[in-house]
Parts: sequence; structure tokens; C-alpha cells
Amino acid sequence: MEEKALRQLLEEKGQTQLLQWWGELDANGREKLARQIACIDWEQLSRPASVGARGKIAPIEGLSVEEIAARRAEFAAVGQAALRAGKAAAVLLAGGQGTRLGSDAPKGTFNIGITRPLYIFEQLIRNLTEVTNACNARIPLLIMTSEKNDEETRAFFASHEYFGYPREDIFFFRQAMSPCVGLNGKILLEAKDALASSPNGNGGWYASLERAGLAEKMRARGVAWYNVFAVDNVLQRICDPVFLGATILSGKASGAKVVQKAAPRERVGVLCLEDGLPAVVEYYEIDDAMATLRAADGKLLYRYGVILNYLFRADVLERIARERLPLHAAKKKIPYLAPDGTFVEPAEENGYKFETLILDMVRCAGSCLPFEVVREREFAPIKNRTGVDSVESARELLKQNGVEL
Ligand code: UTP
Repeated sequence: MEEKALRQLLEEKGQTQLLQWWGELDANGREKLARQIACIDWEQLSRPASVGARGKIAPIEGLSVEEIAARRAEFAAVGQAALRAGKAAAVLLAGGQGTRLGSDAPKGTFNIGITRPLYIFEQLIRNLTEVTNACNARIPLLIMTSEKNDEETRAFFASHEYFGYPREDIFFFRQAMSPCVGLNGKILLEAKDALASSPNGNGGWYASLERAGLAEKMRARGVAWYNVFAVDNVLQRICDPVFLGATILSGKASGAKVVQKAAPRERVGVLCLEDGLPAVVEYYEIDDAMATLRAADGKLLYRYGVILNYLFRADVLERIARERLPLHAAKKKIPYLAPDGTFVEPAEENGYKFETLILDMVRCAGSCLPFEVVREREFAPIKNRTGVDSVESARELLKQNGVEL
């Protein structure tokens, strides 16, 4: 963007502070800053953040482990046929910062092996390869990185020869960034030539995929379903034919793998209905009375904990991308370059980060099939180093499932 156009744009938007050091920047710095400004999603910035008041919550009907076991062959046949016909793609969400794990490296590069290396990415590729081998199918694997970890992630996969997955079926794309604003609504600078920004949340994946031209590419390959999953659950089944078949046969626009909550107050998002639409309610949004309600068979009424493994129909995602997801604002401490040129690491929250969330996609999809899986077989998230949902607990679960460490 030319300087004149840039100035005019920022005047219109009331954000001319971004050019405070323009005069000091060399050609590279100017180009960098102009590029970042050109990428700002102004519509998103001006949208009010969702306030979080919930509608009327009710339990949702899903397929139980027993029901799935009884219809396993039927579901598997439909899912395998769809996979062989190239109708599904896998989307690995690896754009997060993994702050709780306390490592700066991309989370997937973490080595969970004991007697030999076993990287999180490697285990996920193994899980997917089991399906491509069993179904004799090619499944495109789309890996979402962020600006902060893109190069390292690509280099890591390349140096490990993609863990044997066909190179031509792996596609990397970068998640878009959202500028951070101060409490007064002004976008913050991180350096003279850089905006303060953060990844735009795990709901940003489809819009980022479209921007990278990959949605188009997948359409051309005949992809009708996307299986989206988190980087940190090393036990998960990816493009599970039984899940895919059940979701296709249900006629619903999306499917969610769920596990029964371990306890009524477990800190996990719960799939339910909100004003008649599927929705994920966070554990802190349900009170004790609701969390402990039980059905006649003794099962919790709100028992379906989500594990961040979803299926979405491609045409529905296109609609959601056009309509846009609710925007969530989080008040944070954001390091920034002050007008006097000093770099400030604030002790108090001084601004907002914005993100969209994948759980809102379930609601926007309009319908969702909860598909219950056995926790000990399919859910070993790595969030922390030790304790609950940690490297230690995931190792234990991997061993129980016959994975050599
Ligand atoms: P989490 O919300 O658990 O975040 O992400 P995280 O970054 O992995 O870990 P913490 O909270 O900083 O410790 C759930 C999934 O969504 C992805 C993550 O990579 C993970 O697979 N994600 C999250 C993104 O791809 N982009 C984001 O902006 C946020």
C-alpha cells in the first residue's frame, strides 16, 4: 500500500498512531508495517465482542458407546466408502502457543518418548496412517500453524520426512493474526515496524484455509467433510470411519466426539442445546444443580464433554465463513511500544486480544451429532507438564493402549 493511501485509511479508522515512527523506518520496515496494516480485518475490529449471556440450556441427544458398538459395521462401511472416494480432509490445529506446557517450541514437536523419541506430531501421523492404510484411502492433512511457529513446524516435518506421510497430501497454512488494542480501542505497536498481535483463535481455521486457497483446492479434490482436531490429544482417532459414517447417516451438519465427564464438575466444555441449537457450554457456565442432574438411568444429563475433534460439512463451513463467528475479547497484559519509544511490559491488563472459537462453529452449523467415545481409548490431552492432562498422564494412557514409549 502506498504511504498516502495508508495515511488516509488510518485517518478514517482513527488509528494514525501506527505511523508514529514511519519517518524513521527504512524501506523494509515500511513494507513490513504496511503489509500488516493491509491485513487488518477492520470489520472484525469494529464488531462488538460477544457478551456471553447464554440462552435456554437443555441436554442434547447423542450416540452412546453402546449404540455405536451395535451399529459399528454399518457406520464403518459408509465412512470407509466416503474416505476411499476422497471426501474427507483432516485439519490439525497447531497454531496455539502451548503456554501451559512451558515451551516456546511448537507443541507438536514435543518429545513424549521415554526410551526413544516419539514426537506429538509423529504420534498423530501414526494415528492417521492407520486409517489411510486400513481404508486404502488418501486423506489430505491440512496443518494450521501461526506466524510464530510456521517456519519451525515446517522445518520439523521436513527434517523428519513427514513421518512417512505422503508429502503431496500435506498442506501447511498459516492462521491469521488479530491486532491487539489498548483499553481505549487504539491498536498497539509491538515495535516501530510491527503491530502487537495474537493468533486469531482456533475458530479462525476455516477462514485462514480459504485465504490460503486451500478450501478451493479441497473442493476440487471432492472434499465434502473436514475433521478438525487439536494438536495435543495423542490418542485421538483422526478421520475415524465410524464417526464419519455415523455423522453422514445422521444427516447433521456437524459431529463432535465426546467423552462422558469423569465427574459432574470436571473442567471441560459440555455439548448441549442452547435455544434448540447445539452449543458448547464451558464448565464455569453451568451451576452445580445443573451439572449434577441425572437421567432415570443414572447418567448425568449434561455428560458430554467435548475433546476438540469435530466433523464439519464443507458447504456449511462456507456459509459460516460468510456469516462470521462471534468475536471473543480477552483482557490481557500486552507488551507494547509506548509513544515515548520505550518498550513496556505491563503489570496490569492494558488491552484486549480477540479470537473466534471453534466451539461457536458447532452452534453456527445448526445441527451436531454427539458421538461418544471411550475416554481411556481416545482422550489423552497434553496441556501441562505434570498432573492432570499432562505429559505424564498421556504417557500412561498411551502405554495402556499398547503404544511403546
Ligand atoms: P488450547 O486452547 O488448548 O491452547 O488449544 P494451546 O495454545 O494449545 O495451549 P495453552 O492454552 O496456551 O497452554 C486447543 C487447540 O487449538 C489450537 C491449539 O494448537 C490446540 O490444538 N489453537 C489454539 C490454534 O490453532 N490457534 C489458536 O489461536 C489457539
